[in-house]
Amino acid sequence: MPGIRAPSNYSEEPPRHPALKINAKEPFNAEPPRQALVSSYVTPTEFFYKRNHGPIPVVDDIERYSVSITGLIEKPKELFMKDIMSLLKYNVTATLQCAGNRRTAMSKARTVKGVGWDVSALGNAIWGGAKLADVLELVGISKLTSVTPAGGKHVEFVSVDRCKEENGGPYKASIPLIQATNPEADVLLAYEMNGETLNRDHGYPLRVVVPGVIGARSVKWLDSINIDSQVCQGFFMQKDYKMFPPSVNWDNIDWSTRRPQMDFPVQSAICSLEDVNVGRNGKIAIKGYAVSGGGRGIERVDISTDGGKTWKEASRYQKPGIRYIADDEKSDKWAWVLFEAEADVQSNAVIVAKAVDIAANVQPEKVEDIWNLRGILNTSWHRVHVQVRHSSM
Ligand code: MTE
Repeated sequence: MPGIRAPSNYSEEPPRHPALKINAKEPFNAEPPRQALVSSYVTPTEFFYKRNHGPIPVVDDIERYSVSITGLIEKPKELFMKDIMSLLKYNVTATLQCAGNRRTAMSKARTVKGVGWDVSALGNAIWGGAKLADVLELVGISKLTSVTPAGGKHVEFVSVDRCKEENGGPYKASIPLIQATNPEADVLLAYEMNGETLNRDHGYPLRVVVPGVIGARSVKWLDSINIDSQVCQGFFMQKDYKMFPPSVNWDNIDWSTRRPQMDFPVQSAICSLEDVNVGRNGKIAIKGYAVSGGGRGIERVDISTDGGKTWKEASRYQKPGIRYIADDEKSDKWAWVLFEAEADVQSNAVIVAKAVDIAANVQPEKVEDIWNLRGILNTSWHRVHVQVRHSSM
């Protein structure tokens, strides 16, 4: 084995923070409490959601670990960590969001299949690593290539971990070659997260980070990269993470009719409040996150305290002391914004958040309109209920 192995059971899992809310134990799937999620712009690694499909791989000898690059290219190559680390290192602040974020709420409208998630199946981290565009140059593929002379159009990432959905085979996914070779797309082979060596849960020693795209394409524990003429045929590209209309059910589904989901749509959620909150009347802080896919910044976050009849704008921020402007070069284009507003609540209220991105895409009002059998991409308006108890004084 090349210095890394996939355990066949869960006896070698890494330690995890006890405050995480566990949605499934084996494979380990967990998210932080809402409040913890928005207490900082950069999510501390221990509070970053963990989404796995099998036991976490174990590195026995980092010196022997390598990634092979093969397929429709002239110069197949095996790269060791030292080769990847000798390339220029980039730090990219990017929000990774699972397509299943907010699935539990979608399942309340009509049952869906999949691990239940509240609103915290996402996090914002500073990823450090080499640009995939630079790595691919080592095998003779120039920047901004959409097709190799041998007909390669897609870059497939194959991992080390084994999952039951692949019948014991490795997790895999692909992105278009033009995105992989575009330095501006900031696709990384990351070996650092928040300034530290990537930890086991998040893909040690090397993972892909595809900014602006659903988390499923950011393959952890990279084993090989394959340049192919077609989109990856793996389970998670072909039989999962596709968005179907509400009319499709498990009896009439035809997976081949839909494309694998890539960019995620505009999303926001309130994190300073739970779904139902009981408290005194008066001022309450409304705090949360908003994010959109494809590098589209957040133009606006609207807050309503009357269930969506009237709205006021929340303030948005990323880094302290720097005014956030959606498409400004000083803003982190792949990262979420946090938002804040204050409401004076005198009687029972439904507080709502909805975000608008720079393309004027808006979150849909009702979950029913975007319901889909796998429960992905629940981006409907986020609502929380506040029940006011008036003091007897
Ligand atoms: N890569 C591998 N090898 N195995 C996995 O199970 N899960 C994917 C993706 N990459 C997965 C993977 C999914 S669905 C998501 S949302 C992200 O990793 C989660 O990354 P995280 O656990 O670092 O938050």
